Amino acid sequence: MTDSAVRCDNLVHVYGTPGQEVTALRGVDLTVDGGETVALLGPSGAGKSTLLWLLAGLLRPTAGTVEVYGRKPGALSAQAAAGLRRSEVGVVLQTPGRNLLPYETALGNIMFAQRPTRRRWAARHRRAAQLLDMVGLGPVAHRPAGKLAGGEQQRLAVAVAVANKPRLLLADEPTSQLDPGSAADVIGLIQTANRESGITALVVTHDPAVGAAFGRTVTIRDGRVGAEGRAGEEFVVVGRDGTVQLPPDTLDLLPPGSLARAVRTANGVELRPVSPEAE
Ligand SMILES: Nc1ncnc2c1ncn2[C@@H]1O[C@H](COP(=O)(O)OP(=O)(O)OP(=O)(O)O)[C@@H](O)[C@H]1O
Ligand SMILES: [Mg+2]
Repeated sequence: MTDSAVRCDNLVHVYGTPGQEVTALRGVDLTVDGGETVALLGPSGAGKSTLLWLLAGLLRPTAGTVEVYGRKPGALSAQAAAGLRRSEVGVVLQTPGRNLLPYETALGNIMFAQRPTRRRWAARHRRAAQLLDMVGLGPVAHRPAGKLAGGEQQRLAVAVAVANKPRLLLADEPTSQLDPGSAADVIGLIQTANRESGITALVVTHDPAVGAAFGRTVTIRDGRVGAEGRAGEEFVVVGRDGTVQLPPDTLDLLPPGSLARAVRTANGVELRPVSPEAE
């Protein structure tokens, strides 16, 4: 058991069948404390969605551990994992439409999500209307979700995911189809949920506004945590075997494959390029 909201320990995920494997995560170590808001960054194919699916209990890890509030979502039955997603872990998948009931109205989707809470109809209705207002969807409350534009579906999916005040929100690119104003509404909704009910949020994004709004960024590159940002400053992360991913903007000095000397200084280590011919 741990006090962390999220804990990944040497987490590995391999897709595919023997002979055709794709290694999506190759040893992710990550701890997120309860109440933290984290933006998960990284280039396409880095493994961001895979990490989210593992945390949501939609995939099982190939090796290593993944824990959410001390429980292992990958070890639960499909039914128990679905129960966890209904009550404690709000999930927004990367394809907006997959999060919603297409024939149900926008309002109806949020009402439906609140079924497990046993709150009275009027209370659920009030919350649904309030959430729709917060993301600017009041005017389309009675339109079927399947008839909403992609950006509207994204906003609705986040409203659905936070409806039951989950302890953890996992959202995959929730602002990718939004103009800056609507993106700010979604970020605001997550921050309000964080402030009012202490929600922990892990949000995959390419949007610098999300990274700037959250206290912490985690950058995944090639299946590993390569960098972390705190309060606007970027740091490299020393991996369990001593590996360090250099920031992309330093690769002109140390291109991949080059040799460097690791020099101990008074309080750190400096990497100095060497050219083999000159040695
Ligand atoms: N179902 C799958 N079967 C096989 N390989 C997969 C599957 N899903 C993802 N992959 C591969 O795993 C790697 C990580 O994919 P993932 O979707 O997690 O990346 P991502 O960081 O979310 O990328 P993007 O920013 O494009 O959404 C990629 O090489 C991808 O091609
Ligand atoms: Mg993805």
